[in-house]
Amino acid sequence: MIHDSYVLILDYGSQYTQLIARRVREAGIYSEIHPYYRSLEILAARPPAGIILSGGPASIYDPDSPKLERAILDSNIPVLGICYGLQALAHILGGKVDRATEREYGRAVLSYIDPNSRLFQEIPLDETPVWMSHGDKVIEPPPGFRVIASTSDTPVAAIEKVDGSICGVQFHPEVAHTPNGKQMLENFLFKVAGIAPSWSMSSFIESSIDEIRRRVGDGHVVAALSGGVDSSVMVALVHRAIGAQLHPIFVDNGLLRKDEAQEVHLSLEERLGIKVDRVDASERFLEKLQGVIDPEEKRKIIGAEFIHVFEEEAQMFPNVHFLAQGTLYPDVIESISFKGGPSVTIKSHHNVGGLPDIMRLELIEPLRELFKDEVRELGIALGLDETLVWRHPFPGPGLAVRILGEVTRERLELLREADAIAIEEIRRARLYRDIWQAFVVLLPVRSVGVMGDERTYEHVAAFRAVDSTDGMTADWFRVPHETLALISNRIINEVRGINRMVYDISSKPPSTIEWE
Ligand code: XMP
Repeated sequence: MIHDSYVLILDYGSQYTQLIARRVREAGIYSEIHPYYRSLEILAARPPAGIILSGGPASIYDPDSPKLERAILDSNIPVLGICYGLQALAHILGGKVDRATEREYGRAVLSYIDPNSRLFQEIPLDETPVWMSHGDKVIEPPPGFRVIASTSDTPVAAIEKVDGSICGVQFHPEVAHTPNGKQMLENFLFKVAGIAPSWSMSSFIESSIDEIRRRVGDGHVVAALSGGVDSSVMVALVHRAIGAQLHPIFVDNGLLRKDEAQEVHLSLEERLGIKVDRVDASERFLEKLQGVIDPEEKRKIIGAEFIHVFEEEAQMFPNVHFLAQGTLYPDVIESISFKGGPSVTIKSHHNVGGLPDIMRLELIEPLRELFKDEVRELGIALGLDETLVWRHPFPGPGLAVRILGEVTRERLELLREADAIAIEEIRRARLYRDIWQAFVVLLPVRSVGVMGDERTYEHVAAFRAVDSTDGMTADWFRVPHETLALISNRIINEVRGINRMVYDISSKPPSTIEWE
């Protein structure tokens, strides 16, 4: 898709780079992240309306430090440098950067703000809190620049070129800990760079529909529908563009959560009138999984079987040339890798791989420019259910990786019931949206209990709830004890076959979110 005025974010490896891109989009301006070493190429091919240099873990004094090209600063395109981005631009233009002896991390307060700077228009002039996370810092601005903000520890907290076209901040305006950061970024976009907002869901829907129609013509498209947010939103969008030329295939592998298949049906078929081809393949999957205990083997079997079923089913639709997939922007950003590691790691095992190669279909990925929160917004705009749009992530191999040990019908049934109760209580406690992922795991051990006068010897289940922003790291969620008590009582009383419940209090790393 072509975006006339977009902001280019050059990634220097900060963990906050994606956050910068999201903030810019929230302001109504399309943004793209590219590694710093591609800057000249992109500048030549598609000149942006503004450039933001991200932070990063390096020091400009490192021999192999990531470089800022002088041509970026000479291009007449407005530039904002953040943290390392500020140090890099100050250094190259003749300012002084002090090598750190220790890091400054945490909250600081701007004790001075220049009321005439464009960057700080409408920012309170006294005691504005900002978030610092840096080693080196600028101690003298380059010639032709002036200091526009200071803290007690950092006299050069922000600078601006006298003509107002280039500015830089030592702190992080993109994080929530800088409460006026949103206004500062908007000031850069609207007042320094003078860009007009043009990125909205309705304009995205319009231009995607045009593009899908143009590419597909009168051809046919198949898509795998998983029941998750991304594939449901993708299907709703492609359907709006080409209607019955789209054939969504929903493979029921028998490893889904309680009522999941029906909910997808309800949301897509009944609400949006999208005809879904549902294949009940649960027998096939369960048969293949018989006696399998090793988690990676489970994953491989499920992945391979999925491809078989999908391929067979797709044969039902002749004249198909395209495969639509719900790939998101974080999966396509080219990651940069040095020192502290990449700012983004691609989770290869999370995507259905192999389909396009085997089936020789052309790929359509209409969500590849969107972040997850934008996909949710799009889903709502397309008329999908809130419940579906806000659903927690669910692994492709489904409940198979939440049953430790062999997957059997009986165990699947136990887990489905227990999981449904836990989620119901989490929703009732109004915690569902605050939690990244909550679920029950069935353990391969039995424990002794007492029910009435009888001794029981039954399954143990674990409840897991985590807080996360991308699934790469996670902390266990502090679910209130009363809610945990309700979940435990209800599961033990209502699910025959489970007599003990434990709560998982491990973080990732070193644990993972799923148990397998
Ligand atoms: P872990 O367990 O690796 O999970 O901390 C991180 C996120 O990825 C999901 N996950 C998977 N998703 N196929 C998927 O599509 C998989 O094999 C898989 N394994 C884990 C997990 O639910 C969490 O959101």
